[in-house]
Amino acid sequence: MEFAVALAAKGKFTAKPNPVVGCVIVNNNEIVGQGYHQNYGGNHAEINAINSVYKKYKKAKDILKESTLFCTLEPCNHDGKTPPCTNAIIQSGIKNIIIGAIDPNPKVSGTGINKLIQHGLQVQSGVCESLVEDQNKFFFFRHRKKRPFITLKIAASKDGKAFLQNSDERTIITSPEARADVQLIRAEYDSILTGGNTLRKDNPKMNARVEFNVNQPQKILLSTEIHSKKYEFFKNNDVLIFNGKNVSINSIIKKLSASEINSILVEAGPKLVNAFLKTSLVDQVIYFEAPHNLGSHGMPWFDTDNYLELNGFQRSSSSRIGPDKKIIFSKND
Ligand SMILES: NC(=O)c1ccc[n+]([C@@H]2O[C@H](COP(=O)([O-])OP(=O)(O)OC[C@H]3O[C@@H](n4cnc5c(N)ncnc54)[C@H](OP(=O)(O)O)[C@@H]3O)[C@@H](O)[C@H]2O)c1
Repeated sequence: MEFAVALAAKGKFTAKPNPVVGCVIVNNNEIVGQGYHQNYGGNHAEINAINSVYKKYKKAKDILKESTLFCTLEPCNHDGKTPPCTNAIIQSGIKNIIIGAIDPNPKVSGTGINKLIQHGLQVQSGVCESLVEDQNKFFFFRHRKKRPFITLKIAASKDGKAFLQNSDERTIITSPEARADVQLIRAEYDSILTGGNTLRKDNPKMNARVEFNVNQPQKILLSTEIHSKKYEFFKNNDVLIFNGKNVSINSIIKKLSASEINSILVEAGPKLVNAFLKTSLVDQVIYFEAPHNLGSHGMPWFDTDNYLELNGFQRSSSSRIGPDKKIIFSKND
């Protein structure tokens, strides 16, 4: 199962917002097939693993009948973008199934296992369960809490400022190393959300610019204005726009909770960041701190020192990225 977990990890940036899943087929202590969920909308891991046995062995059917299938997540039992994996497993003739974690998606949760048992297969689950949950942290979070995991990304000067108020230029605060790290963080998220002021002032692209394949995050814009599509933010991706007057963040998150988005990375200025913090829906803050001050023209992120700690967050990690600090604050619950 640990090998299946490692295979699943290969889909980390391309399977999302689907969970990562790995599958290994073992016969007589030998791995005869393997697969993982490579791309969102593509074949599930079980199908790729079964197909790999057919590709490799002429007597695949006989081999499968005597094999055990290890799958990190409960096989699906519903028609989604692909047909149910339970049907393919039953048809393959495999009799023993070992599962990492039960799928928290109510469309599956337990029904996949029940169907396999009803068809006479031996099923065991809960093997390496916490590894599977950890590698699908956002997916499990959304199904359990019924909303996406929300992270705020903040770049601050040493004196806690967000940007220079006396400049029309975008204020670059952190080092190239920290900004490269932000690209990796973006690649992990299902969506990136910003506000009207950041769109107009910075004209940001906000896609994950990394040297590997990524199913790019869904872009989300909160603004009361209708913007021309000339902004970089609108290029190459569809943008989900919430632009009604008086649309509350709570109601926007409620709407997004009904979508497949498991995680939201908020990259905005102090107005929207503070509005998010007031909702109590923020689960994590990634705070990059540069070693220099912006001084009296700088706009403070918060109106008090230690604002995050005073509002229920604690430092869960602290590291150095180039000359900057990267501090992760998590909610105390
Ligand atoms: N240092 C950093 O990490 C960082 C990151 C991003 C941005 N920035 C800087 O931040 C500056 C902009 O910051 P900002 O605080 O003025 O603006 P902001 O937080 O980026 O955006 C605020 C805008 O979001 C929209 N919005 C929609 N619903 C909202 C709600 N419930 N509460 C608050 N806003 C809502 C409104 O857009 P409309 O006005 O269009 O209605 C509002 O004006 C830029 O200079 C940018 O460079 C810094």
